[in-house]
Amino acid sequence: MYIRVLGAAAGGGYPQWNCNHPNSRSARNKDPNAIARTQSSIAISLDKKRWFIFNASPDLRQQLWNNPELMPSAEDPLRYSPIMGVLLTNADVDHTAGLINLRESQSFNLYGTERVLGVLQSNTIFNVLNPKFVIRNPVKLNEPIPLKYTDNQESGITVTPFAVPGKVALWLEDESKGSNFGSVEEDTIALEVKGPEGNTEFFYIPGCANMPDWLKDKVDNSNLILFDGTLWTDDEMIKENVGIKTGQRMGHMSMSGAEGSIEAFKNLNIKRKIFIHINTTNPALLENSSERKIANEAGWEIAYDTMEIEI
Ligand code: MLT
Ligand code: MN
Repeated sequence: MYIRVLGAAAGGGYPQWNCNHPNSRSARNKDPNAIARTQSSIAISLDKKRWFIFNASPDLRQQLWNNPELMPSAEDPLRYSPIMGVLLTNADVDHTAGLINLRESQSFNLYGTERVLGVLQSNTIFNVLNPKFVIRNPVKLNEPIPLKYTDNQESGITVTPFAVPGKVALWLEDESKGSNFGSVEEDTIALEVKGPEGNTEFFYIPGCANMPDWLKDKVDNSNLILFDGTLWTDDEMIKENVGIKTGQRMGHMSMSGAEGSIEAFKNLNIKRKIFIHINTTNPALLENSSERKIANEAGWEIAYDTMEIEI
């Protein structure tokens, strides 16, 4: 199985359009230690000809440009896309807005929880995905779903979605519903991905608010995890005067600290650990930062656009 990181940054990308934090400025200045990244998404394939995309970022068009295997090739019909399906892990703008790039009468399978598909259903802009061609497939928590190619053949890839601690998408928050803004389990899912032999190939968890023991047990002894790397410290946006929210308020656990992901994964036996969905303020984005060094020394890699992983 091949995994291609289409976008490694969190919502807004790196650098974010209106961010003048030194991190963002360095990326804008094309500092080789501050490599720009598009918004959170990966593509997976068994043959590098047919791909499934996990989350559709607003940068999808640029991501296809950066990954020519995901565009039609000379042998393909006049209207064709190697994108066989799109699976959504939440309804965040950085994970759904890219769907509108996949206009209009091109077949593919769209997978998401009923909650997330319901949100798309109630927003008519997504009708740009012609329902005669784009099949919306609801996925149920903890039920394996075989991903299908557009000719309806099973790909051999099976995904089991499961709920992880998180929060409803920012644009759907309901303040009248208390401190979790009306979040439900189906708002934030993780994916366990199996290949044709039925083995778990990897876990994809781009958003996670904390790491309960059951989640540690679930991902322990696996080959690969791509995990929420939004912030380095919970209050970094406030401290650096570029935001008013903590990571916890946004539904993300941080990399560092006693409650952080580096600590949470410390005693787990996972062959390869990669942070993805990284915010423009996170110092671990910088190749030469002490935070990058700490993450690397703890066995973590920092994802970058076009990163390819073969498992
Ligand atoms: C998140 O991951 O918290 C959201 O993508 C935030 C946002 O929409 O900027
Ligand atoms: Mn996000």
